[in-house]
Amino acid sequence: MNPIDQAVQILKQGGLVAFPTETVYGLGADARRSDAVNRIFAAKGRPSNNPLIVHIHDMPKARLYASHWPQKAQQLAERFWPGPLTLVVQKSDAISPLVTAGGSTVGLRIPNHPLALQLLRQFDGPLAAPSANRSTRISPTTAEHVRNDLAGRVDLILDGGRCPVGIESTVIDLTADPPIILRPGGLSKAQIEAAIGPISEIQRPNPSNQPAASPGQQEIHYAPTTPAFRFESHQQNQIPQSNVAQILIGQPSLRPHGQHHITLPNDPTRYARYIYAILRELDTRNLDAIYIQMPPDEPPWTAIRDRLRRASRPLD
Ligand code: TXA
Ligand code: MG
Repeated sequence: MNPIDQAVQILKQGGLVAFPTETVYGLGADARRSDAVNRIFAAKGRPSNNPLIVHIHDMPKARLYASHWPQKAQQLAERFWPGPLTLVVQKSDAISPLVTAGGSTVGLRIPNHPLALQLLRQFDGPLAAPSANRSTRISPTTAEHVRNDLAGRVDLILDGGRCPVGIESTVIDLTADPPIILRPGGLSKAQIEAAIGPISEIQRPNPSNQPAASPGQQEIHYAPTTPAFRFESHQQNQIPQSNVAQILIGQPSLRPHGQHHITLPNDPTRYARYIYAILRELDTRNLDAIYIQMPPDEPPWTAIRDRLRRASRPLD
């Protein structure tokens, strides 16, 4: 049987299928079935108060799962779907309440990946799908990452190679006016504002001892197991040299390099594509620590800086 047919069969039986999207791999189940959705939370070890994104393959389907479809949702969907943007709107009753963690809103997204779209089209239903990693770990950007995290916990992994975007979708709450970016991601604030006008951003960081203002905003998230520290360029001389790795930005030839030192491109799009894979790889090397150079505090790097902050502690 071809893998998509097999995946559809598993989903129709309430099973779990990991599949590639343009951002990261998702761990999918039928969003209408509480038994199936429960398996997602169990497989990830995810707290049940953190809602899941519902993936669909066209706009009429998206509107089935929204009880109210604001004009700005329509504008953003027309402009950016399929793509790395999740729209939070008022939910309809057609999906399991577990998907939305009992809340009244739902996050919807049409992913821009041929395998994901083919799967969704053939399944012809809504797929609840968080990133296909164990809870609090780094999102997977290859099928091997998914196997490393979830082997034995997922019924099938569809292999679509490396995810081209490499970080998760931008999540925007359209039930607020002006809309609020809950999670920066693959689509920038400027791109969204060009389509619908001014939006705001959720305040970060949340003090870790307080409940999240919005689900999924925990500070400790996306982290490797090796202690990870972030540093600004001027702090590079404070980094110990033995059995540690450094992740740097820019031209390899400009930097002194030990065996664990890695330089990523000084370009947010290409940096994003590789950062999770690098963090995962360094995490297997039994290092004492990973030191990550922070990219400039400029809008094109916002989502990457957000993920690096959540993966690391400051150097001082
Ligand atoms: O790129 C992505 O978004 C990937 C791929 C697989 O689509 N998915 C993903 O899912 O990153 P997950 O579960 O790892 O992150 C979803 C984020 C969480 O921060 C969650 O709290 C938030 O979206 N979210 C989902 N539904 C929400 C809702 N109704 N209201 C507020 N936040 C929501
Ligand atoms: Mg995730």
